Parts: sequence; C-alpha cells; structure tokens
Amino acid sequence: MILHKIQEKAAQYFPEVQAIRHHIHAHPELSFQEHKTSAFVAEKLERMGIKYQRIATTGIVALIEGKNPGKRCIALRADMDALPIQEKNEVPYKSKNNGVMHACGHDVHTSCLLGAAHILHDLRDEWEGTVKLIFQPGEEAHPGGASIMIKEGVLDNPAPAAIFGLHVYPHLPSGTTGFRPGQYMASADEVYITIEGKGGHAALPHQIIDPIAISALVITGLQQVVSRKANPLVPSVLTFGKIEGGFATNVVPDKVEILGTFRTFDEQWRYEAHSWIKEFTEHTCAAYGAKATVEIPAGYPSLFNDPILTERAKDWAKGYVGEDNVHHLDMRMAGEDFSFYTHHVPGCFFRIGTSKGNTEFTAPVHNAHFDIDENALKTGMGMMAWCAVNELAGL
Ligand code: NI
Repeated sequence: MILHKIQEKAAQYFPEVQAIRHHIHAHPELSFQEHKTSAFVAEKLERMGIKYQRIATTGIVALIEGKNPGKRCIALRADMDALPIQEKNEVPYKSKNNGVMHACGHDVHTSCLLGAAHILHDLRDEWEGTVKLIFQPGEEAHPGGASIMIKEGVLDNPAPAAIFGLHVYPHLPSGTTGFRPGQYMASADEVYITIEGKGGHAALPHQIIDPIAISALVITGLQQVVSRKANPLVPSVLTFGKIEGGFATNVVPDKVEILGTFRTFDEQWRYEAHSWIKEFTEHTCAAYGAKATVEIPAGYPSLFNDPILTERAKDWAKGYVGEDNVHHLDMRMAGEDFSFYTHHVPGCFFRIGTSKGNTEFTAPVHNAHFDIDENALKTGMGMMAWCAVNELAGL
C-alpha cells in the first residue's frame, strides 16, 4: 500500500530532512532576502533530479511528474523566511545570523516540503498526475510572498486543482495534526492614522489644535467599529499597537501618529470597516479643526479552508497518524499569506504538532525560545506527500 511506502520513506529520509532543517535553521534570512535558502533548496531539488524554476526573485516552483502527468495537478507550498528575533536556544543548529531567527517554523515547512518531494519523486511510478512544489519568500512581510508569486504566475501552467500547506503548532504534540474546514485565519490589514493639529504652549489651549486630545477621541470612538458596526457573528479585531506624538508636559505637538491592525473574516465587511475607520477618523478630526490622513493598505485576506477538501484531508490524516492524533482547530485572529492561494484554488492549510508530549518545545511561535520536537518532520513530510497522492487519485 502506498500509505506504508510513504511512512517508510518518511522514516528513511528523516535524518536527511533533519540535517536540512538544521542547515536552514542555522542560516535564517529575513523576508524577501532568502537568497541562500533559495539556492540551498534549488541545490537539493537538483540533486533529486527535480526540475525547477525561479520565480519572484527568491521563490522556486518545481514540478514532479507521475504517470499520466497531464491528468491533474496538485500544489504543495512552503514558506522560507525568518523573523527579526535573536535566538535564545542553545542548540547545535542555533542561528548564525545575528538578530535573525526561524521562530515561526518556516525552516520546518521548507524541510518537510523537500522531504515530501523526495518521497513523491521516488514513488512517481505509483501515482498519476503532477505535483507542483511552491517554495515562497516573504510570508512574514507585506504584501506577502504568496501574492507576488501568484501575480508572477505560480498558479498557471499547469493550474493546480488544489493546494496544501502546513504550519508548525507548538500547542499540540509531535505526531499529531490539526484541521479546520472553512474560515480558519483572519484577514490582516495595517492601519496608519496621522492627526495634524496645530502645536503650541500647553497653557494656551484656545490658540492651538490639540492632536493629543483628538487622538484620544479617535481611539475611543473607533472601538465602535467592533462593538457597534461589526456583525457580532463575524469575529473582528481593531488593535492599536503604537501611538506617537509630543515631547514634554507643557508642549502640544503638531501631530500624532497612531498605528494599528484590523482583522476579520468577511471580505465584504473588511472593506466596509476600512471605509468606516477612515470616515470616522476624518470627520472626528474635522470637527475639532484637525486634519486626518488614514491609510489602510490591503494586507492578507482571510484564510478559507475549502470545507470538502479539508474534511477529506482530515480523513487521510486519520489514516496516516491515527484517529486520536487528528485534532479540530479553533479559528485564529492571526493572519497567514497562504490565504492568497485559497482565494484562487481550493486550499487546505493544516497544522502539525511540534511539542514533545505537551511539556517540552512549548514556546509559542515568534518567540526567541521557539523550537520543535523534530519527530514532527516525519509527520510533516509524510502528510504533504500523502495529501498530494490522495488528492491526485481523486479519492
Ligand atoms: Ni508562519
């Protein structure tokens, strides 16, 4: 049975994939600067005899053809970028790049996809169709590597009928997987507000336009976006993470800047909310004689897991890791640029548990102590190959 062959190969290639992960982890690169990581991936593909092309500067797209390659195409995606974090783990594969760390597990995703590639390439006489491997840059930074890859045609020639992506998940132990059909992760848009008033002496409020006092009204008033404007059945978050303005107790500045993020799950409401935030801020500022500039560049859309595809993948996972090791996930307000693909192709973005028995390797992602129980690599590479084979077989 092909399931057992995939499991055997995942065990066989585990040391190789572990070494790949150690190399990528030790040499992390920031978003859109993944030149060495990309060259490393290309070299591994070349060694396996897999044809690839460069796309979107550091991105790579490769094809593995099975029997009857024109039959159907399925895409598997990994992201390659790291974060501006100083690693605090004392491990042999600790980051050698100061202030840069694979703290979101993208080293794991890339390694797992290379492992899956090896397995699928070995077994290419046992499945029909084509597997498209997508190694993308810049998941962590706007506008998102996925959006650039799509613009440059990563989903064309051949167009995949479905796409799978995985992500590390320290809240579950290694050997487990997590799925959520339907809405899974929120859209994420950055909000930039500038309030320009007229600065001056703090003792002469009647001669100035105080952007600090007005910013307080704007921030308080904007809480109504979520509490009064959003449909309570659609999760939404508006959070301000930065406010800057002023110099001293007795000086009123000319301007205040407020930075934040808006997240939700409904694409129509997402843009209505943008307009509401803009208009409310402009009108409130105008009422006090100040000028507002509001910019909300579109970030990542919400991530929608195709319900049928994801239910199918969940069943395959039960076959791969056992029923008890397949978990149902909650929705998350975090964003993920895999969402761009899911707005073009039916997609399934799932999790692989990476803690050790829920007691070790529990540091969350984006944390200087994040690391994984590497047994998760076996689950990750195997599940990617297993999903591709099943979906190509049209099971
Ligand atoms: Ni990530």
